[in-house]
Amino acid sequence: MVQKMFSSAARRYDLNNTVLSFGIHHYWKRYAVDKTLAKQGSIVLDVCSGTADIAILLAKRVTSSGHVMAVDLNPEMLEIGKKKVIKSGLEDSICCSIGNAESLQFRDNKFDAVTVGFGVRNVKHLEKAFSEMHRVTRPGGRVVCLEFTQPESRFLKYLYDFYSFTLIPAVGTVISRDKTGIYNYLPSSIRKFPPAEPLKQLMHNTGFSKVYYELLSGGIVALHVGIK
Ligand SMILES: C[S@@+](CC[C@H](N)C(=O)[O-])C[C@H]1O[C@@H](n2cnc3c(N)ncnc32)[C@H](O)[C@@H]1O
Repeated sequence: MVQKMFSSAARRYDLNNTVLSFGIHHYWKRYAVDKTLAKQGSIVLDVCSGTADIAILLAKRVTSSGHVMAVDLNPEMLEIGKKKVIKSGLEDSICCSIGNAESLQFRDNKFDAVTVGFGVRNVKHLEKAFSEMHRVTRPGGRVVCLEFTQPESRFLKYLYDFYSFTLIPAVGTVISRDKTGIYNYLPSSIRKFPPAEPLKQLMHNTGFSKVYYELLSGGIVALHVGIK
């Protein structure tokens, strides 16, 4: 069901992201990529890569001596990602591949860093996805997870609820001409996703050490970092 929604929204996904976040998603993604500490020559993985925004930022950071794998379950999202990769002239640095976050097609300890942006909220078994990201990260490497969360301030929560349950479904559905209800699903999935502190604990339980998180933009986004 979730995959049908992403297929329907794929064509206008980037436009919707930019309109609905007032462009701030670019800043969140750049910040997450900085936190990977990836450098020239690093081998990195972007899970739930969608239209490859984070993969493209990673490729610019690791340069042509490094490599980026961009993995997503949805062919329509990834197809748009591939076009963007070609348009950015980064096709030698990024390989886009269909894959499931819950059973990644890579050997153990392969990547210097792994990112997942606004993706884990959609996977079926969260622990499995984090175990897989842990498995493919080399010892000492980092997993950086960017995900929406609920602000703690009551005032911001009130504004955020109004914004996400009224404006996002209305604007998102019109822009994407969607009939699947993805822009109703996305805000409600945030409410069902673990808050930042339990997510930190979950990462710890799946084997990461020194897990920490930062809340961004008034606490609507949480950035978690775990070290293998
Ligand atoms: C909200 S989009 C985020 C895309 C991109 N990371 C970004 O930040 O713009 C979530 C993506 O997760 C993908 N996804 C959901 N479940 C997945 C899974 N089990 N394995 C791989 N990708 C998955 C969806 O197909 C979708 O492209």
